Amino acid sequence: MVTIEEKTANQTIAKLPPKSRVPRVIQTIRSIFTPVSFLKATQQEYGDIFLFESKHFSSQIVLSNVQAIQELLTADSKLFESGSGSKIIQPLVGANSLILLDGDRHLQQRKLLMPPFHGERMRAYGQLICDITNQVTSQWTVGQSFLARPNMQDISLQVILRAVFGLKEGERYQQIKQVLTEMLDTFNSPLSAVLLFFKSLQRDLGPWSPWGKFIRRRQQLDTLIYQEINDRRHQSESQGEDILSLLLSARDENGAAMTDVELRDELMTMLFAGHETTAIALAWALYWIHYLPEVREKLLQELKSIDVANADPTVITQLPYLNAVCSETLRIYPVAFFSLPRILKEPMQFMGYDLPKGMMLSVSIYLTHHRPDVYPEPEQFKPERFLERQFSPYEFLPFGGGNRRCIGAAFALFEMKLVLTNILSHYSLELMDKAPLKPVRRGIVFAPNGGVHLMVKDKYGTGK
Ligand code: HEM
Repeated sequence: MVTIEEKTANQTIAKLPPKSRVPRVIQTIRSIFTPVSFLKATQQEYGDIFLFESKHFSSQIVLSNVQAIQELLTADSKLFESGSGSKIIQPLVGANSLILLDGDRHLQQRKLLMPPFHGERMRAYGQLICDITNQVTSQWTVGQSFLARPNMQDISLQVILRAVFGLKEGERYQQIKQVLTEMLDTFNSPLSAVLLFFKSLQRDLGPWSPWGKFIRRRQQLDTLIYQEINDRRHQSESQGEDILSLLLSARDENGAAMTDVELRDELMTMLFAGHETTAIALAWALYWIHYLPEVREKLLQELKSIDVANADPTVITQLPYLNAVCSETLRIYPVAFFSLPRILKEPMQFMGYDLPKGMMLSVSIYLTHHRPDVYPEPEQFKPERFLERQFSPYEFLPFGGGNRRCIGAAFALFEMKLVLTNILSHYSLELMDKAPLKPVRRGIVFAPNGGVHLMVKDKYGTGK
């Protein structure tokens, strides 16, 4: 691998990884509009540890080297901070979001938020997930087509609103659903996603300007969330199992409760990080299952081996082929192409490089998942690879890793498996467009281009 000598801002000589010679502004544009070809081309030319310099964002080292990823994710987390590198999402989630916190506050909030997304607490949401899936899919009629992504988003949003917010169906529930969907749609194309990346474009030029529209929707959503927080604060003892109830009763070491703004930011974080990601993963899974008939056939065979209607959710989540299909879906086109950034708090020697304080490192999940030495024929969708061998957490990391690993990973997989089982055992679907689909940017995540157009061929009639 090539290495270069470079002067850093503080004039010390540092040995940094190779960097592209393409002008920074071109790199920035390519990374926003054509990230796959940009990442692949840069990796091919400069190797699996390279420096990405951008005109508008901080420089960062992009890793797809498995050993480097292991070193990064197993290093003492006190050596890094992350929050300041994720400022791009602050307009959406607020400054008190878990994603923007660091140090003890980050650790403390993680401890608070993790348990409801695991174990018994998580499994208790099984019936809710199936009921919501039934309710959304009951709108489908034989002979009609629908787009998978918005339909899956309807399911995952309702799951989050009920599980995280503990909302009951009603006027506020419907309003939150509508405003949030509209707000996220502000960034639904690569061009509109640019708004998030360039602060200079974030100007309110009235209700019809893109940022003006976003700000007004966010205000509407904030009002609804604060109303909910207020109502719940004044409710008597009957606290539910949902995460808002848990946060409302949490006290810090001084006995202080979370403020309304802190609660709002954490709820927005769960909404933002939790529902669109899961919906995109589900839309991709439906795409692959219907793009490759043999995958669908094998899944149906596996589902026949259990009594789906009465099965305990644990039985479904342990089905090996279903698990392999979900894993391969998250491998081939990971919803998040990058981990959250890790920023050095002190200079560090890393994989033979002398990195200065302030250097940002990110794992390219996409490039790592496309390493041919780990995943032969990486462009092929082959669930079998997950049955044939186990991948290390540094080779397969759709949910990142280390101290910032996604807190909703188990929950997202649980939801994916239940929703897919439910749909496959009730409906026969067909892909409308047989051309291969590619990922396109939606804000900071990547979704199937066009949203996956499916047609309802038949209802199996099992319970519908
Ligand atoms: C298929 C669905 C999902 C994918 C692919 C995904 C992916 C990720 C990734 C890659 C990270 C960064 C981890 C790192 O830098 O090491 C992350 C962080 C995070 N995710 Fe997810 N996620 C999903 C679903 C969810 C759900 C359902 C929730 C919760 C409701 C959630 C909440 C979070 C939060 C709060 C963080 C920040 C953790 C921290 O800063 O400590 N995600 N997710």
